Amino acid sequence: MKYRSIKGTRDILPGETARWQHVESVIRRVMADFSYREIRTPIFEQTSLFARSIGELTDIVSKEMYTFLDRSEESITLRPEGTATTVRAYIQNNLGEAAPLTKVYYLGPMFRQERPQAGRLRQFHQFGAEALGSSSPTLDVEAIMLPLQVYKQLGVSETSLKLNSVGCEKCRPRYKKLLQEELLKIQSKLSPESQARLEQNPLRVLDSKDERDQKLTASIPLMKDHLCDECRDHFASVQTLLNHLNIPHIVDGRLVRGLDYYTKTAFEITTSHLGSQDALAGGGRYDLLVEELGGKSTPGVGFAAGIERVLITLEKLGKDKFQEAGPVVFFVGMDDKSREWAFLKSCELRMRGISAELDYLNRSVKAQMREANRLHAKFVVVIGEEELKSRSAKLKNMATGEESPISFDRLDSVL
Ligand code: HAM
Repeated sequence: MKYRSIKGTRDILPGETARWQHVESVIRRVMADFSYREIRTPIFEQTSLFARSIGELTDIVSKEMYTFLDRSEESITLRPEGTATTVRAYIQNNLGEAAPLTKVYYLGPMFRQERPQAGRLRQFHQFGAEALGSSSPTLDVEAIMLPLQVYKQLGVSETSLKLNSVGCEKCRPRYKKLLQEELLKIQSKLSPESQARLEQNPLRVLDSKDERDQKLTASIPLMKDHLCDECRDHFASVQTLLNHLNIPHIVDGRLVRGLDYYTKTAFEITTSHLGSQDALAGGGRYDLLVEELGGKSTPGVGFAAGIERVLITLEKLGKDKFQEAGPVVFFVGMDDKSREWAFLKSCELRMRGISAELDYLNRSVKAQMREANRLHAKFVVVIGEEELKSRSAKLKNMATGEESPISFDRLDSVL
């Protein structure tokens, strides 16, 4: 029996982890610059948490969640995203009482049973942030700036920001009715999928990928033109702030995100470097979610971004080569005694916090030198009978090729 990883999951191999660590360190730095602190929530939660927050009728909840009954017959779901879990943790741990504004970020695996393709996995990784406790448009702008700043620091160019307002509980029901009335006029001509959505989730008809649907709805009224005063002012403020910060954006009245909790701002960041799965990040405001999940009425806004997608983009741009830090010293042993000495010396150095490596496979001197090179060792020390006797050896600087004699007693101090 040969075992293989589950479809849509990937091993992140040692040769790739340097890239991941680099991206993660940039994310952490940017989050710190904006004073967001890390939160780590469990990978699985009660199914109803996601159904309630993301929405029963969304693709995520109706088709994509990894849901199972555990041994005590409780319905459990592997988290498909991080907002619901963060809000649950916020309420459960009374974070709102500790501070009137909570700014948190997360990094980690999410699970959705989608059809795997380039840039779309079943276990994928997101970084994201949530700000809870303020309805200020400045925080909508922070949610947009955070991923953009990460992309900028990583050297990802050609991103595009699409922005919309999906209204609030005051203006959206009114608009939804209007939209439904308009859609009913063309109902029979719409794609079967859009016809099914018309009743329960008419806004999703607007972002149908079907070309005929797009033509038929070309002049349909859009939410952004039917906002209440408060939502209109908020949307205008977000755009004004983006302009002040010279952040280009496109208002896309058809942008409807695949999660139901949004109010007011919704946005997506895409890049031309990805194929059909071109969304690098998405987010928006969710002023009703905390209350919906049982907390005190608290506004919130945030974003999440796919880490695999930014890595694919970096690869396309040829910016994914990161030199891993190799050992400070690699000991090449010529015989059994020298290898034993090399092992003991390496352990001694490692215990003092100096990285050291050696050969474990009884390879030839030439092969050991190749290994030292492959690992990007800074120095190589070749040990044989002579060296053990004289308690001195040659220290080779691998970058310059320079060799200098060094006594064993002085070795530690030059590494
Ligand atoms: P989302 O748009 O569902 O939003 O996901 C955000 C990002 O995660 C996407 O833009 C994409 O880069 C990545 N992503 C999603 N699904 C996959 C997949 N199957 N494979 C690879 N990458 C994927 C959310 O998750 C919301 N929680 C964002 C948010 C936070 N809104 C407010 N706060």
